Amino acid sequence: AFFKPAHIPLAGKTIVVTSGPTVEPIDPVRYIANRSSGKQGHAIAAALARLGATVRLVSGPVSMPDPEGVSVIHVETAREMKDAVEQLLPVDAAVMVAAVADWRAEAQAGQKIKKQPGAKPPVLQMVENPDILAGIGHHAERPRLVVGFAAETQDLLANARKKLEKKGADWIVANDVSQASGVMGGDRNTVRIVSKLGIEEWPDMSKDEVAARLAGKIAEALEIIET
Ligand code: CTP
Ligand code: CA
Repeated sequence: AFFKPAHIPLAGKTIVVTSGPTVEPIDPVRYIANRSSGKQGHAIAAALARLGATVRLVSGPVSMPDPEGVSVIHVETAREMKDAVEQLLPVDAAVMVAAVADWRAEAQAGQKIKKQPGAKPPVLQMVENPDILAGIGHHAERPRLVVGFAAETQDLLANARKKLEKKGADWIVANDVSQASGVMGGDRNTVRIVSKLGIEEWPDMSKDEVAARLAGKIAEALEIIET
């Protein structure tokens, strides 16, 4: 065993985090995207770095500055995010917080689509994007700890459990993103950690507090898995 100071619990660990939305182009001036400020993902990246981890943040376009002490890879589309994440393997843990666009336009127009007098609006043919979390959860170089998020507006726990199973994740951080919850773009979050062992309910707290607590839980888990 090597010397590991108690106050740097994630020293020597590399963790990949995704954050923000992905944006999927329709033509050179238009895109489809998800609502995501990047606040929660960026806060988690920063909290892991504060615990001593080498953090690689793969982020879609956000208006937030790069977190301190974190190396950031900026991407736009789901496919770019997936490639960036997979190129970072092997890592000790992966935390997938990004709001990845589920679909993209099948074909991207090379030129701006113009309105045609009297013509109907264009119909977009969509295709499904790859699932980045599921790809990592079932990867040959799977990290020892794989954490996903589940943004739900209804049936939170049932949906989170399904995602845990289907995506090969160890934990799903489930959060209610219904309008009433105010979580989208806001500074607070109420989450539940769903794992094979059961459900841990966390009280309402700031996104920074969620990040700090999750980083601590990740540090604890990596230590247990190691020994
Ligand atoms: N995720 C991903 N790649 C995708 C879609 C989702 O990596 N193409 C990840 C998210 O980063 C998150 C988790 O999967 O960690 C759950 O995302 P969510 O949108 O809640 O789940 P979906 O599987 O896309 O299901 P749905 O949107 O239909 O609820
Ligand atoms: Ca989705």
